[in-house]
Amino acid sequence: MKAKLKSRVIGQDHVFDPLERYVLIGEKGLAPPNEPKGAFLFTGPTGTGKTETAKALSETLNCILLRFDMSEYQDDKKFLEDLCHMLDTHTSGIILLDEIEKGSMKIFDYFLQILSEARITFQRKTYDLSGFYIIMTSNIGSKNIMGQDNFTVARKIVERLIQSHFRPEFLGRIRRDCQICFKPLDYDALKQIVKQKVEMEIIRLQEKGYSLSYSESILPFLMNEGINPEFGARPIVQTTQKHIAMALVCASQTAGILTVNNSQLTLA
Ligand SMILES: Nc1ncnc2c1ncn2[C@@H]1O[C@H](COP(=O)(O)OP(=O)(O)OP(=O)(O)O)[C@@H](O)[C@H]1O
Ligand SMILES: [Mg+2]
Repeated sequence: MKAKLKSRVIGQDHVFDPLERYVLIGEKGLAPPNEPKGAFLFTGPTGTGKTETAKALSETLNCILLRFDMSEYQDDKKFLEDLCHMLDTHTSGIILLDEIEKGSMKIFDYFLQILSEARITFQRKTYDLSGFYIIMTSNIGSKNIMGQDNFTVARKIVERLIQSHFRPEFLGRIRRDCQICFKPLDYDALKQIVKQKVEMEIIRLQEKGYSLSYSESILPFLMNEGINPEFGARPIVQTTQKHIAMALVCASQTAGILTVNNSQLTLA
């Protein structure tokens, strides 16, 4: 499992030991009774693989991922309604609560109950969440660690801000080793990500009838076009998809080698 996740989420190897440990416990039915199968808090800079890790885990476990963008929930009742609506049709999987700090503070009362009892009641019906992993993400502190090359220092800064933002009874319900700070992606990691995204895009486009390969020269080109470490890998992903799409739009054939020509990607 770890190897699969590592090949999908680059430069975040420290995440997968605790993740695998608690997922194995969860999968063997050894999590504490009346608790979710596992609960994780992912922190750290934007675009570094927090949501991607949740997606990769759901694919590895072959289970559903129920994602809630908490910035859309200023109304706690609406969140409860949407969550329970999902729980009407799903009894296991991963619940991803993205950017938890952006939702209504009242929602934390539900989180407390979910994390400690794996239960939630809505309209007189009680739902059991003990078949779910709960993954929460937060961007708190990510601006404060911009340009901080020492990850130990960066992680400490994030931890301190997380502790001053969230109530102790909330953080106390998530094991310390399940509160994981993602690393800012360095140049080497971004280089590997460009290659990974090109190869993923080629596979995706196969299903649309394209038969593509690529010249290594497109990798530094895409890297140059997309690099903006402030936003992690996101600009690289967008640039890669945009340039490959443009090359295909301009090509008359559906098979060939992606190369760089006159500062743009072309299909030769
Ligand atoms: N470490 C990584 N390895 C491979 N791809 C990555 C990595 N980090 C980010 N990406 C890619 O960048 C895009 C954004 O990543 P993701 O959604 O995981 O960011 P995030 O950490 O959740 O950021 P945010 O805090 O803004 O939600 C995705 O397309 C993902 O595939
Ligand atoms: Mg995210």
